[in-house]
Order: sequence, then C-alpha cells, then structure tokens
Amino acid sequence: MEAPIQEYDRYISNLFAPEDTALLLAREEMAREGMPQISVSASSGKLLHVLARIINANRILEVGTLGGYSAIWLARALPARGQMISLEIDPRYAEVARCNLKRAGLEEKVQVRVGPALESLSRLEAEGGAPFDLIFIDADKELYVEYLRKAVPLLREGGLVLGDNTLPLAVLDATADSGTKRYNSEVSARPDLISILVPVLRIKGVDGLSISIKQAQRA
Ligand SMILES: C[S@@+](CC[C@H](N)C(=O)[O-])C[C@H]1O[C@@H](n2cnc3c(N)ncnc32)[C@H](O)[C@@H]1O
Repeated sequence: MEAPIQEYDRYISNLFAPEDTALLLAREEMAREGMPQISVSASSGKLLHVLARIINANRILEVGTLGGYSAIWLARALPARGQMISLEIDPRYAEVARCNLKRAGLEEKVQVRVGPALESLSRLEAEGGAPFDLIFIDADKELYVEYLRKAVPLLREGGLVLGDNTLPLAVLDATADSGTKRYNSEVSARPDLISILVPVLRIKGVDGLSISIKQAQRA
C-alpha cells in the first residue's frame, strides 16, 4: 500500500513541527488578508530552524518574506542578540509580516525591508555590515541565480545559502528551462560552494531545498 505524500508530511509535521499559537495565527492572518498560501510547510520551517541551529546562526537573511511564517521559524533559532533581515517587495505583505512577527515576540530581532530584493541586496553590500551566517532564498524563482550571486558575497565562510522550491517538475524534462533549475546548475557547479538538493514533502507533493555551504577560500 502506498500512502499519499500528504500523509507522510502530516506525520512529520505533527510529531516534529507542531505549530504554536503565533504560527497558527500568522497563517490565519495571511488567509484573512487574501495572501497566497505559499509559505513553507511546518516541516520545512522546522528544517530551516534546525539548519540555523546546527551552524549557530547569529545573523540570518531571508529573500521573500510574505507574511513572515518562515521568518518566525528562522528567527526562533537565533540567540538572544541574534538578528535577521527579511526582504519583501510588497509593502502590504511586509506590514502583515511585521504584525505576525510582533505577535511572536520577534519584532526586536527581525527587520523587514521593503523593495525589490536585488536592490536591497546591493544596499546590504554597500552598507558593509557583518556577514550573514545563513541566507534563505524564497522570492521570484526567475531571479534565483541573481539573488545567489549577490547573496554569496554577503555570507561568511562556512555559512549556508538555502534555495527553496528547487525541485520543480521541469527538472525531469531535459529541454525545459526554469529559474530554479538554473539555480541548481549554478550551485552544483560553483567551486566556492558545496551543495546538495534535498527532496522535501509538502502538502502539494514533493519539492526541494537546495543546501549550499560557502567554502573557505584556499590560498
Ligand atoms: C514564496 S513567498 C515567501 C514565503 C515565505 N518565505 C514563507 O515561507 O513564509 C515569495 C515572496 O517573495 C516576494 N517577492 C517576489 N518577488 C520579489 C522581489 N523581486 N523582491 C522581493 N520580494 C519578492 C513575494 O511578494 C512573496 O511575498
């Protein structure tokens, strides 16, 4: 007997990633505001959280905030003085995210910046702040490679860059093109990254999270 993928995801989420009130209300608020239901699943949120904990992340950058659901999972992995910046193009979504983050008690830790992410990334480079330990890419799929190219210089050596939704059906068709397929080709070939694409279960079926570590530069 083969169970539907959703059943496996439900099992993992119920056991390892039960949602508390702040996460449930964040989802409810997004639905009430008529926002698209494209946040990561609870199990993927927990995976992001665990990855941030593994590397003791102090500074996290997210590209694509929506209503702040994944930001809550990530920011909860930060230590007391940890900081997170999340980039969002839509001011209305950013406002919903700020409210959701405030309700989760994370308003001091997470700054939501509004604008096209490529511009915000350039601004971050110009600001020259401390490097990030983890960068989560989850915005316009067609721009993933450009986000990556701007993100890697902002990342510390040994830091993680994560690309969401990187196992589209297009990977099964050698002739098909997609932004996330191009992203996978780039992260798998770059000599400054060690990468793997991990399949993850989602309510809608199988998807993927590309995980890359920035290598130390050799003299
Ligand atoms: C998949 S959703 C992010 C979901 C969120 N990370 C979560 O799991 O809770 C993608 C978000 O990226 C935003 N976005 C799309 N293009 C963008 C761009 N060029 N710059 C910044 N944000 C963008 C969209 O408005 C949307 O809110």
